[in-house]
Amino acid sequence: MDVFEVVVVAFWAMLPAYVPNNVAVLAGGGAPIDGGRTWRGRRLLGDGKTWRGTAAGVAGGALLALALNAVRSPAGDAVGVALPAFPLAVVVALPAGAMAGDILASFLKRRTGRERGAAFPGLDQLDFVVLALLFSLVAAPGWTTDTFTLPVLAVVVVVTPLLHLSTNAGAYALGLKDEPW
Ligand code: CTP
Ligand code: MG
Repeated sequence: MDVFEVVVVAFWAMLPAYVPNNVAVLAGGGAPIDGGRTWRGRRLLGDGKTWRGTAAGVAGGALLALALNAVRSPAGDAVGVALPAFPLAVVVALPAGAMAGDILASFLKRRTGRERGAAFPGLDQLDFVVLALLFSLVAAPGWTTDTFTLPVLAVVVVVTPLLHLSTNAGAYALGLKDEPW
């Protein structure tokens, strides 16, 4: 694969893990997952992790994966790249892993004394990638190792933080998000 192909495959394969966070921001609200519970004087997760945002995020990511499967061959022809189809287990695993990573990050933020909305550089940008890939690896090991080759993974690790920072800054500018990270 040349560099262009690697970048296109990396972006395509990660899209179902990228979108859940944004859907959660748009759909969030309502009851927090931790039900207000605290541990050692701090919230378990905080008000920023809700059932509604999480469910909408997973559903949005899964629907996007199905839509990508539907347009895979014309899209692949248009860019001249062999794009991977998402097996059904991965359709769910990527967005569910992304949301789990975001939730785990909030858990770690609360344990380290960071209030809701506080930045945790590095963790904020990659939490969802790590868990999305882990969930995918468990759901479909062969597909995951075939798709996320070392060059693809390298692109994902470099490009994801940039995409995450720019979409969040955009959401902040539009008034959809409380902080620019
Ligand atoms: N959101 C949600 N459920 C999720 C993730 C996000 O409802 N599982 C919504 C919440 O309204 C949240 C907003 O999306 O406030 C922004 O998400 P995020 O930045 O992850 O949450 P923060 O409010 O910054 O909280 P935290 O410090 O725990 O990350
Ligand atoms: Mg935040």
